Amino acid sequence: MENKTNVQPERKPVIFSAIQPSGSITLGNYLGALKNWIALQDGYNAIYALADLHTITVRQDPTTFRKNTYDAYALLLAMGIDLEKSIFFIQSQVPEHAQLAWVLNCYTQFGELSRMTQFKDKSQKHADNVNAGLFTYPSLMAADILLYQADLVPVGVDQKQHLELTRNIAERFNMLYSPTFTVPDGYILKNGAKIMSLQDPSKKMSKSDQNANACVHLLDKPDDIIRKFKRAVTDSEACVRYGEGKDGINNLMEIYGCITGKDNAAIEREFEGKGYGEFKLAVGEAVVDHLRPIQEEYTRLIQDKAYLESCFAENAAKASRIASKTLAKVMKKVGFLPMKRS
Ligand code: TYM
Repeated sequence: MENKTNVQPERKPVIFSAIQPSGSITLGNYLGALKNWIALQDGYNAIYALADLHTITVRQDPTTFRKNTYDAYALLLAMGIDLEKSIFFIQSQVPEHAQLAWVLNCYTQFGELSRMTQFKDKSQKHADNVNAGLFTYPSLMAADILLYQADLVPVGVDQKQHLELTRNIAERFNMLYSPTFTVPDGYILKNGAKIMSLQDPSKKMSKSDQNANACVHLLDKPDDIIRKFKRAVTDSEACVRYGEGKDGINNLMEIYGCITGKDNAAIEREFEGKGYGEFKLAVGEAVVDHLRPIQEEYTRLIQDKAYLESCFAENAAKASRIASKTLAKVMKKVGFLPMKRS
């Protein structure tokens, strides 16, 4: 039907985000980003991915890598990604990501990539394998976001610098040619954006921490979760209050607040006159209770490989339909010949 009023149908803003299937997903990933992914599905056109191409910047054992990818997909569905509302695909199954990343590499400066703190950290951590992929990782991340013309990118604080670079690359390309990419904004939560290690609260909680007690994984058994919280590093004040020099307690309050929805004042009131032992146990139990239904749903889904694989295929096809349009525009603007297969 003809649109007589010439009013464009309102476009729901697009959100894009991704997580690496590089190991077992952590409570930090969940509270900093994934919980938000679920919440945003209703108001936005949500597109999510498992960023498995990013994962091979650090050497992976193929069997474990495959298992981690199935696990992460099932776990995110169990958390509440709804495939009726959102697209959720595996990055390596949508070749446009690697293609656009190459093009964007040529619009990203060596100096910009050299300033990325994650590159500096990871190249120290994996000094025996400082590969080119680790260096150019942010251009691939920019491709992920820009292919879908994303308006918003929900991430934790550690991805802020990569997002800034994405904006710069998009603006540079748009200036050189003509408006091609939506310049995305970050969506960083006030609470939970940086969940810290339970053993060293000056460091972020990370999948790759060598200390098993430092990081809670979403698929940890309840007893292990409780044990990790009981052993969490605190301070000697023995008073549950948010404050300077109390990084361990601040972190536990943040976790408890994210899970229960309580603010710091309410948490302080709840634990007034109570010791750290009681508080740590309460945080552990709240996390266990919150994760129980997610773990149960994960256990059901992971047994149904055929269903998961049908989701992979369907969602990769949906993502590719969107991504291929952006890629085609980019290729044309740069001056590549159109591809015609006989
Ligand atoms: P990744 O896989 O390291 O982490 C996934 C998400 O979890 C957040 N996060 C945290 N948030 C709070 N506290 C923590 N301790 C914590 N640890 C991790 C991360 O900020 C992230 O939002 N490069 C990305 C994946 C990626 C991506 C993208 C993200 C690839 N392409 C495009 C957004 C858009 C990464 O390695 O995240």
